[in-house]
Amino acid sequence: MKKTLLLKVNPENPDSTKIEAAAQIILKGGLVAFPTETVYGLGADALNADAVLSLFEAKKRPLDNPPIIHISNVSEVYTLTKEVTKKAELLMKEFWPGPLTLVFQRSDIIPKVTVAGLDTVAIRMPKHKVALALIEKSRRSIAAPSANLAGKPSPTTAKYVFEDLNGRIDAILDGGPTLIGVESTVLDLSVDPPMVLRPGGITFEALKKVLGDVKLHPFVEAETELPIEKIRSPGMKHRHYAPKAEVILVEGTISAVTSKIQGLADSYLIKNVKVGILATDETKTAYKADIVRSLGSRFNLATVAQNLFRLVREVDAENVDVILAEGVPSEEMGLAVMNRLRKASGYHIVKAE
Ligand code: TXA
Ligand code: MG
Repeated sequence: MKKTLLLKVNPENPDSTKIEAAAQIILKGGLVAFPTETVYGLGADALNADAVLSLFEAKKRPLDNPPIIHISNVSEVYTLTKEVTKKAELLMKEFWPGPLTLVFQRSDIIPKVTVAGLDTVAIRMPKHKVALALIEKSRRSIAAPSANLAGKPSPTTAKYVFEDLNGRIDAILDGGPTLIGVESTVLDLSVDPPMVLRPGGITFEALKKVLGDVKLHPFVEAETELPIEKIRSPGMKHRHYAPKAEVILVEGTISAVTSKIQGLADSYLIKNVKVGILATDETKTAYKADIVRSLGSRFNLATVAQNLFRLVREVDAENVDVILAEGVPSEEMGLAVMNRLRKASGYHIVKAE
C-alpha cells in the first residue's frame, strides 16, 4: 500500500509549493488526483507508458478504456494529433478551457497504452485553476480518467477520491467540491458530422448552436444495452456509475412518476427492503421511504447534475437495498443526468403512465 499524500489547496489561488510537489510526482511517473470543473481526475504523465499503466491498475480500469489527455495550451493538440480541422479550431476557441473533450486522429508520439491501442485520442483543456496549474508546472500533458475505482460514480469531492483510492495513489490535491458535477461532453471529430459519444458539461444545444450539424450517438439516449457493433467509445461497454444498491429509474410526467415511485416504495417497505428515493425539490415532501433526498429543482437541471453523483454516493452509504430515482427532462444538462441514471440503473427503467 502507498502512502497517499493529502494536499489541500485554494481552488482560486492554489499554493505553488503544493502544486510543485504534485508536479514532481507526475514527473517521476506517479499518480496525482486533482479537481477539474467537472469531477476529480486521476493524473499521470500521458507520454509515460509505465505511469499510465499504473493509472489503469490503481483504478482497476479495463485496459481497453482510454483516459482523456488534459492540456493547458492549445499548441499541445498539434503534437498529440494528426490533423486539426477548422471545426476543431472553432470548438477549441469557443469551449476551451471547459468541459468539452474532443476526439482526434492521434499522432505516433502517444504510447499505445494511453489510447488503449486506438488510432484516436480524446483531449480536453480543463477550466480549473488547480488542474491548469498542475499541467503547467509539470510541463506534461496529463492523462486523467475520473478519480474513482472503475464502475463507481465519479468523485465530486476529494473525500470520495480518498474513499476509493487511498493507498493506491501518490497524492490528492483537495480543491473542494467540483462545480459541474458530471463529466465532460465527449465529441468525436474523427467522423463527419461530429458525434456526441457522452453527454456532459457542454450541452448538445450549445454544440448545435456552434456547429449546426452534430449528431447524438444512439448510446447517449439508449434505454437498453447497445449491441457491441454499435459501440464507438470504449466507455460505452463498461458498467458505470453503479452504486451497491439496485437502482430503478422511473420516467414520465411528474404526477405519474411520484405515484409510481411511492407505489414501488410501499411494495418494498412491506417486505422490509430498505428504500432510498432520489427526488426533486418539487416532489420530495410527497414521499415516504427510509431515505429521501432531493437532487434540486426540476427547473434547474444544472443543479441536478451538480448534486447527482454526491447524492448517489450518500444514499448508497446508508446501505439501502434499492434506490428509486426520478427521471428529469432530457434537455440541456438533463441529457447528461438521464444518461448517467440510465447507466446506473443497468437500464432498469420503469415508464410511469
Ligand atoms: O470531465 C471529465 O471528462 C473527467 C475529468 C477528470 O476531466 N474525465 C473523465 O475521464 O471522465 P474518463 O476516463 O472517466 O472518461 C473518458 C471517456 C470514456 O468513456 C472513454 O471511453 C472515452 O472518454 N474515450 C477516451 N478516449 C477515447 C477515444 N479515443 N475515442 C472515443 N472515446 C474515448
Ligand atoms: Mg470515468
